[in-house]
Amino acid sequence: MAALDVSSEDDASPSARAWRWYASMGSPKRVLAPMVGQSELAFRQLVRRYGCDLAVTPMVHARMFATCDRYRADVLRDLGDAEDRPLLVQFCGDDKDYLLEAAAACAPFCDGVDLNLGCPQGIARRGHYGAFLLEEPDLVCGIVEHLSTRLPVPVTVKIRLLSPTDAAPTIALAKRLVAAGASLLTLHGRTKEMKGQAVGEARWGLIKEVFAALRGSVPLIANGGMEAPGDLERCAAFTGADGAMASEGALEDPCIFGVASRSPVDLADEYLAICRSKAPQLAFAKGHLHKLLFEKLQVPGREALRERVSQGEAWADFQAVVDELRRDDKGGARDRDRSWYRRHRAAKARADEKARRDAEEAARQEALDDAADDGGGLGGLFGDEDE
Ligand SMILES: Cc1cc2nc3c(=O)[nH]c(=O)nc-3n(C[C@H](O)[C@H](O)[C@H](O)COP(=O)(O)O)c2cc1C
Repeated sequence: MAALDVSSEDDASPSARAWRWYASMGSPKRVLAPMVGQSELAFRQLVRRYGCDLAVTPMVHARMFATCDRYRADVLRDLGDAEDRPLLVQFCGDDKDYLLEAAAACAPFCDGVDLNLGCPQGIARRGHYGAFLLEEPDLVCGIVEHLSTRLPVPVTVKIRLLSPTDAAPTIALAKRLVAAGASLLTLHGRTKEMKGQAVGEARWGLIKEVFAALRGSVPLIANGGMEAPGDLERCAAFTGADGAMASEGALEDPCIFGVASRSPVDLADEYLAICRSKAPQLAFAKGHLHKLLFEKLQVPGREALRERVSQGEAWADFQAVVDELRRDDKGGARDRDRSWYRRHRAAKARADEKARRDAEEAARQEALDDAADDGGGLGGLFGDEDE
């Protein structure tokens, strides 16, 4: 894979070089998102079989990589597979020197390094990284400039919306990141506040506005809200993106990339077969099986099978669950309403329904109280009269 030669003084502008680099990777359009504990080598290999044409590793914590031998060894074990390209390795951190040290060590095994400015979790706030750096443009642009002028591979950045209603602040930041040397931008169409039960729909309309302002500068990837096959193409067409990135939807259905369709049980089986040679951490595999088989394991009466995935301690334990499901499985189309992707939406729908019922109950109680008050008043009058 041709790496971008950032040191050469050729006549190409940074933008032209970014596009050449993108073309050298085959102009990827269907991207697997970075996912801690889930976008590891074995899973990347699975989704590449189903149309993913660019993958991103789980986020690597730059300072830990630079200071902890065991962590560094785990990260490096996940890299270097000849078939695992094109690949971006994602990093988080706020220290440009740790980031440079970690990225330089991983550069020989990838096509670019990505800076995580999207993680909204409490751990990122405490660690001062991810989406909590979005409001520090001087710091993040300094990091991008530092890395892009020193690494042998391009630097890419993944951001979130800065506002849920106004594209302007995100456009301003994105333009600065490109000027600082970013060769590709991914925009997740949610703010950092949109997470858990407040996740809400991704704002493709805002992605479209941001990308209209950035179009042509560097390749642009849209992220957020990829739920089913066809969504990546629909999102890219709607937002004007060069490609789209799937995350939660891909964990549940690796065929979201659109090339073929397979049942959850077949996909779990295939993933376990890949694990025999790629051997991810058992905890990662557990996470995958829960999501790949979510719909099947939610069926009433299969609680014990679900528990066996949670308690599994060896590959054979997982394989036994998959084999049992296969014997029992009636097949059929996926039930999107009972999907893992919809779990927050379903929880929100339940919460909304409860709020509606509570409001109804409160209104009913109020009406009863009013009636009782009215009755009391009348009673008083009668009483007065009685007296
Ligand atoms: C299990 C999991 C782990 C994630 N880890 C990362 C990560 O390491 N880096 C990152 O930038 N985003 C991470 N994300 C966020 C996703 O990359 C993506 O932006 C988000 O899920 C929105 O896409 P979707 O609506 O298609 O799921 C993670 C998401 C999930 C579900």
